[in-house]
Amino acid sequence: MHFTRLKLQQFRNYPSLDLSLHPGITVLYGANGSGKTNLLEAMHLLSLGRSHRTTQDREMVAAECDTAAVLGCTRRLDGEHEIEIRLFPHQKPQKKLLLYRKPAQRISDLMGHATVVMFSPEDIRIVRDGPAARRRFIDMQLSQIRPSYLRILKTYLSILESRNALLKQHKLSGVQDFITQLDTWDEQLAAAAAPLVRARRWFLMELNREAALQYAAISENPGEPFELRYTGQLAEADDIAQVMLDGLSRHRREDMQRMYTTFGPHRDDVALLLCGRDLRAFGSQGQLRTAVLSMKLGEIRLIENEMDEPPALLLDDVFSELDLKRRNALLKSTEGIQTILSCTDKADAAGAKADVFIRVSQDARGAAQLAKEE
Ligand SMILES: Nc1ncnc2c1ncn2[C@@H]1O[C@H](COP(=O)(O)OP(=O)(O)OP(=O)(O)O)[C@@H](O)[C@H]1O
Ligand SMILES: [Mg+2]
Repeated sequence: MHFTRLKLQQFRNYPSLDLSLHPGITVLYGANGSGKTNLLEAMHLLSLGRSHRTTQDREMVAAECDTAAVLGCTRRLDGEHEIEIRLFPHQKPQKKLLLYRKPAQRISDLMGHATVVMFSPEDIRIVRDGPAARRRFIDMQLSQIRPSYLRILKTYLSILESRNALLKQHKLSGVQDFITQLDTWDEQLAAAAAPLVRARRWFLMELNREAALQYAAISENPGEPFELRYTGQLAEADDIAQVMLDGLSRHRREDMQRMYTTFGPHRDDVALLLCGRDLRAFGSQGQLRTAVLSMKLGEIRLIENEMDEPPALLLDDVFSELDLKRRNALLKSTEGIQTILSCTDKADAAGAKADVFIRVSQDARGAAQLAKEE
């Protein structure tokens, strides 16, 4: 799939923009702070309903404005799509989605109209940070591949929140029928955990296969196998709902004490292994970077396998950090894929067979200005 058009209004430092996009490789270049990442962020927002770098939607609304709008047109095998997201930080709901100019019921309805894989230097956090960063990574990618996943995840999280609220209320002020209520939440949570774990298990198995191949191709060292392994409490369970129910019951006393649920897929993690050893503890900087790059390239392949067409690839400032070998691996993967990449120096993108260069600069008031060179 590829983006054909992007329109922004009062989005970060873009007061207004209407940009047509080439299906091949576009290089955005310009000084620090000019507005390159902002453009990629807008495309990420259209694909996943959220920014790749902030959880606070209001940050994306231009300073001194009350609302922002991002509209994207994409072309997929099944035809043209049009998605628009409007942000209203001071209203409820704060975010509205329009599909083909008509209001959609849920933000999750946007899944499947635009699919992206974004790669930026901050992605190293998937390896370096705690389990939450890896869960976020899995959740975002899975929702793109399987739009129903987002509903499964939301159902689980909402039951979890209710169970935690009950635990808290009981500890603080006591609740009549506490055990009966808790039993009910346990059953619901166990039922909701099963499809969640099954989806994550499938995703990690597939991604593991693709990422391992990519790692092997980049490192050119068969003695250095890379592996992703699902390590949640339910990762190996046959009867997931039953094992979840047993786990909740085993942890009940602790949960009541701590006032939150200590067992379940909300505590999942992924082990990243190099030669069977923990990459985080034993890997060099370069090996960590190769692992992240392999996961991203693996994701592209996985999306291609599942959706019969590749995603658009957003590369934010990654070239300057990669050595020649990794840069070439990345460039090879851009063949036949719409790629929008940013760099500060035009020369950084020398190896990329760019179809379009866009120079990004700021005017006297800080607004981004684009100049296209085809
Ligand atoms: N809500 C906002 N309203 C107005 N301007 C904003 C807003 N948020 C960010 N900016 C401006 O956008 C610019 C940053 O844009 P962006 O992150 O896209 O830069 P960049 O070109 O990617 O820079 P770098 O090369 O440093 O990564 C800054 O000048 C910042 O002041
Ligand atoms: Mg940037």
